[in-house]
Amino acid sequence: MNIAVINGQNHRGTTWRAGKALADELGGKTAEFFLPKDFSDFCIGCGNCFTKGEEFCPHYSRLKPLTDAMDEADVLIFTSPVYVYHVTGAMKNFLDHCGYQWIIHRPKPEYFGKQAVLITTAAGSGTKSTLKDMEDSMFFWGIGQVCKLRFNVHALSPDHVSRDMQEKMTEKIKKTADKIKKNGMRRHSMPLKAKMLFELMRKLHAKGSFSEIDNEYWKEHGWI
Ligand SMILES: Cc1cc2nc3c(=O)[nH]c(=O)nc-3n(C[C@H](O)[C@H](O)[C@H](O)COP(=O)(O)O)c2cc1C
Repeated sequence: MNIAVINGQNHRGTTWRAGKALADELGGKTAEFFLPKDFSDFCIGCGNCFTKGEEFCPHYSRLKPLTDAMDEADVLIFTSPVYVYHVTGAMKNFLDHCGYQWIIHRPKPEYFGKQAVLITTAAGSGTKSTLKDMEDSMFFWGIGQVCKLRFNVHALSPDHVSRDMQEKMTEKIKKTADKIKKNGMRRHSMPLKAKMLFELMRKLHAKGSFSEIDNEYWKEHGWI
């Protein structure tokens, strides 16, 4: 099993520990990245990824190792602590750079068969909106199966997380790993809502309603 872990933070705190425990439980080959250490360029809004191609992003060469690892992975793990009710700025910035692969533009068919796990921890609240930040991209990338883990740990660092909470986290992580391993046996495809969007986009691309490069991509993939 190939795993790609994208951490929305540089430090190895409570959220990272949860992602690491899951990857260890799953086993297999893991490529791990820390943001912003491994990718720190802010999207400048040039729109080149949409209109010319992702390789025209001014940050393409630095982004590529991360997207390559995701392309090759069977399971994607995204971790982000809650920062003012949302993902970290670094995670948001990374997801901004992957907008070109939304179903609306140039979805990568291999993503329809992947599983993703989204992990967040908060001191007290904000985990739902933080998961949603990451979930939106998973939906629009067409990811087959998404699991979510969220914990209100009542602490700012791992050393202050209670034993009870640590046990609860371990138990949930183990259950998720078991689910992923079981899921891994079957072929995934896009969830129904994503499929409906895909069908709508098929019609719009057939009419040439989007950028030329997007329309060409849909033709090349035999979708129109
Ligand atoms: C800048 C910043 C903003 C935060 N915002 C929230 C918040 O909105 N809600 C919350 O419950 N905790 C918030 N926290 C606390 C962290 O989400 C929480 O302690 C988390 O478990 C830290 O995980 P980490 O050890 O992986 O960094 C914030 C922490 C920081 C540093």
